[in-house]
Parts: sequence; C-alpha cells; structure tokens
Amino acid sequence: MNLTPFVLERHFAKYEFDVPYQLSCSDCEPLRMPELLAMASPDSIRMWENLQFLYTDTNGHPLLRKEIAAWYGNIRQEDLLVCVPEEGIFLTMNALLEKGDHLVVISPSYQSLSELAIDKGCSVSRWEADAAGIYQVEALKSLVNDKTRLVVINFPHNPTGAMISSGILEEIIWFCERKGILVFSDEMYRGLEQNSADRLPCASSLSDFCISLSGMSKSFALPGLRIGWLACGDPVIFEKLLRLKDYTTICSSAPSEILSLIALQSREMILNRNLAIIRKNISLVNEFVKRYPSQYSWTEPKAGSVAMLNILTGQSSEEFCQEFLEKKQVLAIGSHLFNMPKPAIRLGLGRIGFAEALNRI
Ligand SMILES: Cc1ncc(COP(=O)(O)O)c(C=O)c1O
Repeated sequence: MNLTPFVLERHFAKYEFDVPYQLSCSDCEPLRMPELLAMASPDSIRMWENLQFLYTDTNGHPLLRKEIAAWYGNIRQEDLLVCVPEEGIFLTMNALLEKGDHLVVISPSYQSLSELAIDKGCSVSRWEADAAGIYQVEALKSLVNDKTRLVVINFPHNPTGAMISSGILEEIIWFCERKGILVFSDEMYRGLEQNSADRLPCASSLSDFCISLSGMSKSFALPGLRIGWLACGDPVIFEKLLRLKDYTTICSSAPSEILSLIALQSREMILNRNLAIIRKNISLVNEFVKRYPSQYSWTEPKAGSVAMLNILTGQSSEEFCQEFLEKKQVLAIGSHLFNMPKPAIRLGLGRIGFAEALNRI
C-alpha cells in the first residue's frame, strides 16, 4: 500500500506537544482519570479494579456494546463492532471498495474519508456546501453515477460545524438505497448539538445500507482511550469489516473498554459538561468577530466542537498560522490543510484553554 501522507495528522505530530497554546483541537477537553472514576457505579469500579489483561472480544466488550446500543436506542448490540475510530474508516474503505469504484465524499473532510479511497484507485466527487454553507441534497444527487459505490457524509461536520436535518439525512439514505449505494456516516461529533432536537439518528438505524462511525474521542472527551465503533445492520458487510479487523487490531484495549463503558453510563453528564465549554467559547468568538469585523468573520456552528474563522486581512491561512505559531506560540490549523480555497482557521471550541489561545490573536 502506498498511502498519501495525512497532512493534518503530520502537522499535529510536528507541533502538538511542544506548542503551549492550542486553538484548533477538535476534541473536547479530555477528562482526567479521577473525574471519570468519580462517575463510575460500584459495579463498574469493581470491573475496573479486577480487570484482567486478557485479549478482549473481537467485536467489543458485550457490556460496552450494550451501552452503545442504549445510547442510540434502536441499534442491535450484535450490529456494533468496537474499533479505533480512525481504524473504522480504514476498515470500511479497504473492506468495501475496489479499484475503479466511485465515491461521493463531503468536502472539506477529515482527510482519510476521501484519501484511502483515492489511494486504492477509486475516483471521488466532492460534495460541497453552497455559498451559504448549506449542504444541498440535490447537489449530492447530481454527483452520483453508475459506478458510485459509497456516499460519505459527516454530520456534525468537521471542520465547519455544519448540520443537516433528520429529513435530509433520510432523503440521502433513501436515495442511496434505491440506487444500491452504501452510505458511510461519520458521526464522531454526535451528541454535541447546540439544540438537542437537532440530534440526528444513527444512520445505520435507518437502513442496512448504512455504516455509522462514532466513538469516545470527541463528544465524550476521551481521545486517548482510542475507542470507537462501527454500526452496520447488514451481516455480509459486517463480516467483511470484522475479518479485516483481524489484520489491524484484532481486539480493543481491555482497560480502554471498561473506561469507555463508565463514560457511556454517565453520557449525559459528560455531554453537558462539554456543551457548556463549547457554548462559552462560542460566545467568546462572537465577541471577537464583533470587535474585529473587518478582519474576521464566522458562522456559528450548529453542532460539534469545531468551526471555521474566516481571515479577511488578505493573509493566506498558511502565512497566518506560521506567524501565529512563531510570534504567539499558538498552534492553529489552517484551511489549507483541508484544501479549502478561502483563508480561514479551524477553531477548536471544546477546550478550556481556547480563550487564552484566542486572546493571543
Ligand atoms: C470526522 C472525524 N472522523 C474520524 C476521526 C478519527 O478519530 P480518532 O482520531 O479518534 O481516531 C476524526 C478525528 O479527528 C474526525 O474528525
């Protein structure tokens, strides 16, 4: 396999742990062990303290899958495959695609959502938002052709914070199902809706043509656990994903599974904590753009922990980020790393240190 470098991850790898201020992290303020254990029930604490470091169930710990299913409400435990979130993308693209397939992928996107397919020899059409930042379903439909095998969506969206309604999600799914096209729905930021009524159903609960991805890294503030999952109700597809996983991680980390279980059992508490941080940071950005209207603008995110801040000064995003890094020791991710044409930076609204980093602009 000859894989194109993942520019965003390489950029983070180069600077993340040496630069004191972070403006663009996509996760929510990572929890600390005492905070998490304080939420655990006596049963979960017993599981944690008596943990044996065995290989774990390939599909994922049954109790963890039960709790994930309970979060969705209408997903069967046996349709869940626990994996690392990024691994879930890797498994899907490699198990389900062949050279020559065509995909429609939301754009901009987390790079692996399109890159793995391109590196496999597939062609990709990019589904972009209109001038108002809205992802129009008709635009998506117009990109589909006879070779389209997969449509890749991501709501709440990284990096813009855009959302679609449940009605539009259903329209995409029914359209794809009628044409025999699979839908890969990246739902890593689900649970972080500004208005909880906007929360989308898990796509795979709506159709067996869908594979949903989610995990602990963003909405649940536990990126270091490296726990996520795929949900898919089609047994043939599920089996293909499972078989490939035998060649990636085989099974998940035993401690991480128990800690994920504890977090999911306290999901409302964690989601509310994270939403409170995001709301505070959204109001800071609103004040900021009001203060400097000729230099910056933004569209407040409807959901998720990220959004874009447009740079109106004439500087490119690359120049802006470099200057910001050198002069202010702030790591910011520019729109160039997402192949976006307009100068902008991603705002990571889920972090407590965001205010200090923003102040340094
Ligand atoms: C949209 C999206 N999908 C998947 C992932 C992968 O998650 P993880 O880094 O926890 O493997 C990310 C991480 O930034 C993401 O933003």
